[in-house]
Amino acid sequence: MNIIINGKTCHAVEGQTILQTAKANGIYIPSLCWHEKVGAAGKCRVCVVEVEGMRGLQTSCSVVVKEGMKVETRTEKILEAQKMIVDLLLSNGRHDCISCAQNGACELQDVAYYLGIERGSMVYHDLEDNRDESSEFISVDRTKCISCGRCVAACQNTVTNDVLDFGWRGHGTEIVFDADKPMGESNCVQCGECSQICPVGAITDKKAKGLARPWETRRTVTVCPYCGVGCQIAVHTDRLTGKIVKTTGVETAATNKGMLCVKGRYGYDFVEHPDRLKMPLIRKDDGTFREASWEEAIQTVADRLRDIRDKHGADSIMALASAKVTNEENYTFQKFIRTVIGTHNIDHCARL
Ligand code: FES
Repeated sequence: MNIIINGKTCHAVEGQTILQTAKANGIYIPSLCWHEKVGAAGKCRVCVVEVEGMRGLQTSCSVVVKEGMKVETRTEKILEAQKMIVDLLLSNGRHDCISCAQNGACELQDVAYYLGIERGSMVYHDLEDNRDESSEFISVDRTKCISCGRCVAACQNTVTNDVLDFGWRGHGTEIVFDADKPMGESNCVQCGECSQICPVGAITDKKAKGLARPWETRRTVTVCPYCGVGCQIAVHTDRLTGKIVKTTGVETAATNKGMLCVKGRYGYDFVEHPDRLKMPLIRKDDGTFREASWEEAIQTVADRLRDIRDKHGADSIMALASAKVTNEENYTFQKFIRTVIGTHNIDHCARL
């Protein structure tokens, strides 16, 4: 179907919201609590638009399109409402962008910029420092939280860990973990979904702090090096040093839809670790190891396997394949064990 946004005919798909149609047609409507994965929350009200025939301002993230619908996104009335909302959000927190880890990737910053707001006009100076640094990998700074609820929806409905929730009431409403425990003492498994979906700097990755800013990084999409699920990860590396700043889940990947487990998201230290094996090692007679070339190592393994098979038979050998390598490599490995070695003693670590 077609709808008209700001006088422009836009193609829309049945069931889409106005916000989704606008996005698909390259029209920016500011939004904060809406996220593709958790849907409309109707909390922030930043996405308001005017729809012909409907009274008052409508939240574009929740109104579904109808054939011929006429929508305006930038009237004086809309901009005035949006400015007031963003002004209140900025006033109600400590949004010190210079030191914030999310600077450059903050959706509130983008909306404020779009609306031409430099700072909240009613800034509280006595905001209580309400941080939670108790967990291993995630920093929580509640003074930057805009109560959009994306992290809560993600924790409860997307990854279904059910740890995050809104606690308390009214002005005192804040994100809590379990029954208001420090995050590090809660049942949180540090999957980092809340950090990835947070539109501001309230929930951020500890390991990325102080490293390159978002605009100084290069994003490379690859597959997580851990288990066999094959989650897609984006590795953000410092353009100057090439070192990893952080990893995020790829939202468009069918395998994991942006979600990761703690290993995929935060377990990348091995890349730069001084103990990382870069050369094959062969054990000497005294039990210690010496470095060897690949040719020597492969020849040694081949000789030893042949000796064992010749002396004790093929069934004296067993092989354990790995979830960390590709499907094709696992296939080749089992083929090698069955047809070259001659045994069915082949298993896979994923069965553990
Ligand atoms: Fe629509 Fe928040 S994005 S109400």
